[in-house]
Amino acid sequence: PDTAFLPELELLLASPRGFCAGVRRAIDAVEDALRSYGAPVYVRRPIVHNLAVVRSLEAEGAIFVEELDQVPSGSVVILSAHGVAPAVREEASARRLIVHDAVCPLVAKVHREVERHYADGRHVVLIGHDGHPEVEGTLGRLPAGAATLVRTLEEIDALTLPREHPVAYAVQTTFALSDAAEIVQRLAARFSDVAGPRTTDICYATSNRQTAAEIIAIQVEALIVIGESFSSNANRLAEVGRQFCKSVQLVAEPNAIDWDKIPAGGTIGVTAAASTPEESVNAVLEKLGTRYRLHIREIAVAEETQTFKPVEISRGRLP
Ligand code: F3S
Repeated sequence: PDTAFLPELELLLASPRGFCAGVRRAIDAVEDALRSYGAPVYVRRPIVHNLAVVRSLEAEGAIFVEELDQVPSGSVVILSAHGVAPAVREEASARRLIVHDAVCPLVAKVHREVERHYADGRHVVLIGHDGHPEVEGTLGRLPAGAATLVRTLEEIDALTLPREHPVAYAVQTTFALSDAAEIVQRLAARFSDVAGPRTTDICYATSNRQTAAEIIAIQVEALIVIGESFSSNANRLAEVGRQFCKSVQLVAEPNAIDWDKIPAGGTIGVTAAASTPEESVNAVLEKLGTRYRLHIREIAVAEETQTFKPVEISRGRLP
């Protein structure tokens, strides 16, 4: 189409954006299982928090369920990238399900940390969002009362443990970097014996995407974050953006774009959550391109080389 008459729009495109290594590995696990066992393969919970991904796997023969009691006994089931509590694995073996766990290795690392802190006699403070599956899976590794979930500074102040009580903290992998830093600082002031991870629990992908979002948000009049409203890391990207940019919209697909917020002749930013496929980014860029003459500049803050060993799927035969 002739774009000569369209208004100009500068567009800063974040890099890295979109799929992280853990998301890619989880999606591959479902596809590998479909190839090895044939359809249907069951998946407990959205494998990653993105509806386009879920729909495309459904089209390939995956059946998504909320809980394992919806899976026929003897079937193949994949557990999501967010990780599960041990009780879920136990239920799976009681129901004779063939389980492949696509938990991200960086979430599994947090699981091991909290178990170690608990074994060391520390009360665990998990910094995370209530109700998120990753948080459920992490808390589910410890007996009731062994851990407290916090999200705000006020919740640290409200802890009733004595100052000398040994505590340890862990952080949801997709938490906001700056919020976590503040909470950890408050925790260190509140208790005399605080253990924590050697390096942060917030994963490389979250950290890179938040940094890129921040650097871009500072320079633009409007920011589009591509991701689902129920994705934790997508919401954090939008929050980071809002600290520096007045107009931020979180959209899962191009039809959701609020055009009133796009400044013709101005500069906008675009980024995508770790669970957002690049197809969704392309679709948004394409739609923008129907209304504006785009000048796209990629803003790269980091190069990502992280890969994980694939989830082991026994090829072509039932174990
Ligand atoms: Fe893993 Fe971080 Fe992605 S924890 S699933 S690499 S967002």
